[in-house]
Amino acid sequence: MPVIDLAPELKSEVRPVAKDTLTITDNRTGKQYDIPITDGTIRATDLRQIKTDSNDFGMMTYDPAFMNTAACRSTITFIDGDKGILEYRGYPIEQLAEKSTYLETAYLLLNGELPNKDQLAQWMYDVTYHTFINENLKSLLDAFRYNAHPMGKLIATVAALGTFYPEAKNISDPECRQKQITRLVAKMITIAAFGYRHMIGQPYSYPDNDLSYSGNFLNMMFKTTEMKYEPSAALERALDVLFILHADHEQNCSTNAMRAVGSSHVDPYSAVAAAAAALYGPLHGGANEEVIRMLTEIGSVKNVPAFIERVKSGEGVRLMGFGHRVYKNYDPRARIIKKVAYEVFEVTGKSPLLDIALELERIALEDDYFVKRKLYPNVDFYSGLIYQAMKFPMDMFPVLFAIPRVSGWLAQWQEMLQDADQKIARPRQIFVGTERREYVPIQKR
Ligand code: ACO
Repeated sequence: MPVIDLAPELKSEVRPVAKDTLTITDNRTGKQYDIPITDGTIRATDLRQIKTDSNDFGMMTYDPAFMNTAACRSTITFIDGDKGILEYRGYPIEQLAEKSTYLETAYLLLNGELPNKDQLAQWMYDVTYHTFINENLKSLLDAFRYNAHPMGKLIATVAALGTFYPEAKNISDPECRQKQITRLVAKMITIAAFGYRHMIGQPYSYPDNDLSYSGNFLNMMFKTTEMKYEPSAALERALDVLFILHADHEQNCSTNAMRAVGSSHVDPYSAVAAAAAALYGPLHGGANEEVIRMLTEIGSVKNVPAFIERVKSGEGVRLMGFGHRVYKNYDPRARIIKKVAYEVFEVTGKSPLLDIALELERIALEDDYFVKRKLYPNVDFYSGLIYQAMKFPMDMFPVLFAIPRVSGWLAQWQEMLQDADQKIARPRQIFVGTERREYVPIQKR
């Protein structure tokens, strides 16, 4: 280790300290520790050597909600929230949205490189020819009430799907993993669409192998009496772009769930069901629905200034679709989605809520309250408007998020399984409960 720098308080002692270390002085004992720094990070377990005496468990970090803890090393998705950059495997999201397809992007996420022509053809074939689901799953869907939330049905059906493939538990066999990955990516659209058809009481529409992934999903959602469903090319492409934008977003809540549950070495269907459950929450996959509710409540462009004042007044009203834990700049996905929205409205007609959204964005981007707090539109600000224009009911919005996120979850799951640093995820706690005491018989309580 190069000996270059000195910790300031040690200069009089002339104690050599390597530059890429962090020197910690424990004022309880006066002891000093040099902790190696790698990639701007120290290992939390290196702190365990910091003890007051030999009975001490050792120093831990306290980080609820993982606000400042890297839980893995990853090569999949890069985000620079200050600059508004999102890249999958090094490729800027803007280029993928413009030039790629969802299935090609899914391959990239899962395999690390863009496929060549043959690899892409094989992957598209494999996914297309795995879209059918076992007929028994229809009976499972039939067991739900007509008004069951499609996300609840999706979570349950994905978990049930795994029971048809008992070999899926062989997670250390790469070939077996690949088979389950293909199945999961393929069957998500079928499960999602069947859940919708069940909700509206229409017969299930089966996959059509002549169609693209997004086109096939639209076919299973909306086909009625026509012999062959022909999706609108513009809507099919718009949906595919939305799938690309939602495919991965590094260590978010649902991805963390996928990794944590997968770390117990459960089969991938159970882990995906858990990740989808995390996505179901309103703080994660439900914000675009809230945007639609908010725009509907505002009702008209002339009410926008009054609504902005309510948000600023601190009475707890939030401008939904604005702000992000990571992006402190325009969410790059929001910029792309805004463009897609106009392309969709050319086909479907303009959403009456669009003018309200544009006015909200215009005022917010000029207003000191939002500028100071670096609050910009996020991916959800316009996506709900697009989904609504395409005739997806609001309950389906988180399902539309889950379909493409499966490829990200599975890429992260594979990476976790192949990472020698990873073990079963098991956080520590600081116990603040009652100290040991004797059991009191009920007569004496
Ligand atoms: N409207 C008004 N004020 C806001 C908003 C908003 N949407 N978001 C944050 N703020 C304010 C907060 O009140 C706070 O102000 P203060 O410093 O005066 O107290 C400041 O900005 C910082 O906000 P935090 O809540 O600390 O930011 P955090 O990073 O924890 O929250 C979040 C991020 C949850 C996304 C938040 O911005 C929010 O609730 N946005 C609306 C919901 C939404 O659009 N969620 C979708 C996120 S994208 C996704 O999950 C796919």
